Amino acid sequence: MGRNKIQALAGVDLVIPPGSFTVIMGPSGSGKSTLLYLIGGLDRPTSGSIRISGDDISSMDENALAVYRRKKMGFIFQQFNLVSSMTALENVAFPMRFAGVPGKQRLQRARELLAKVGLDKHARHRPTEMSGGQQQRVAIARALINEPGLILADEPTGNLDTVTGYTIMQLLSELHTAGRTVMVVTHDVRMTRFATHVIYLLDGKLVEREQFEAASQIPEAATQPSEGTTL
Ligand SMILES: Nc1ncnc2c1ncn2[C@@H]1O[C@H](COP(=O)(O)OP(=O)(O)O)[C@@H](O)[C@H]1O
Ligand SMILES: [Mg+2]
Repeated sequence: MGRNKIQALAGVDLVIPPGSFTVIMGPSGSGKSTLLYLIGGLDRPTSGSIRISGDDISSMDENALAVYRRKKMGFIFQQFNLVSSMTALENVAFPMRFAGVPGKQRLQRARELLAKVGLDKHARHRPTEMSGGQQQRVAIARALINEPGLILADEPTGNLDTVTGYTIMQLLSELHTAGRTVMVVTHDVRMTRFATHVIYLLDGKLVEREQFEAASQIPEAATQPSEGTTL
């Protein structure tokens, strides 16, 4: 920033096992988003390297990285980041537009995904006509449209009430159970009960890591059940 040099991350050395559910915690400004965006290829490291399934994404050019992101990763943000002029269905189908799939097929797949997150009846709704929790479900469906192996979520429950937030956590957990690798930045400790790994950042450094044998089961009656079926 101007003349001030800010080191957002320093010396983070980390292996994320395939099929794991990693929760990233730490105070505001500790580098959580930066770490997630580096792994997701939305940001580039000034030094060091990031390898995903053996591919060094830190050395890819912009085009290669864009293709890589689209095929291999799904992003979920705190602010949902839906396109306000598009319906739920169009938002979900949108990232597939660049995959060379015919429109009819794209919408069919988007419809299936909306049904899986419990929003088949909201396909024609625009973001302003949906609650925060519904918008985040649309965003999750959109993140899945190109069938990525890696799901990255930056404070996905940060704008939701605690009950709605919990249903989003359950959805993310279902993605993990279905075999995907999931990384979630959150301040909500309830998310850790779904995690196989928890890492803690402080001032850009990885200060603690925990690993669990297996993610604990979803506790009963914690809140209302998720609307969707298993993903
Ligand atoms: N684009 C940027 N320009 C300058 N500083 C930034 C930028 N993005 C993040 N930072 C700084 O980097 C540090 C880590 O930020 P961030 O990764 O957003 O933290 P967190 O997500 O844990 O709140 C903070 O000190 C933040 O102010
Ligand atoms: Mg952040």
